[in-house]
Amino acid sequence: MNYIGISNDNLEKVAKKLNELLSSYSVYYQNLRSFHWHVKGRDFFDIHELFESLYNDAKLKIDEIAERILTINHKPLGSMTDYLVDSSIKEAKDVLPAEEMAKVILTNHKILISQMREVLEIAGEVKDEGTVDVVSGFLSHLEKESWILNAWTERKGSKA
Ligand SMILES: [Fe+2]
Repeated sequence: MNYIGISNDNLEKVAKKLNELLSSYSVYYQNLRSFHWHVKGRDFFDIHELFESLYNDAKLKIDEIAERILTINHKPLGSMTDYLVDSSIKEAKDVLPAEEMAKVILTNHKILISQMREVLEIAGEVKDEGTVDVVSGFLSHLEKESWILNAWTERKGSKA
């Protein structure tokens, strides 16, 4: 039964955008895990902990996005192969200095923020206020996390 009360065609458009966001989030999550493991140097404790808090948060968001797709009667992507095809974020394969890692993650955030706005636009057009509610909270939270990470990189910059 279509308990949402929005046509399947319209929900499919929202689900497609949500799956793109889910894919990017999943690659971003793994980037954070890799950086958490590989970071070295004087700022190890700061940035090791910061990446951990970001990936713990990303894990919750990934689950919420997938379950929103299910709630609107569609199928969330579930394999890394699919995520790598649909993601707008690239895998970070190199081990980088801490400051470079932070810049990569900030660039990942910029992509996620832009994709969230795309979800909000499509969901708003088809009056899917439930999706708007879920994603708009994510958007302001990720913007705030970006401010924190950006402030860390500026502190780093001023020391050099
Ligand atoms: Fe750890």
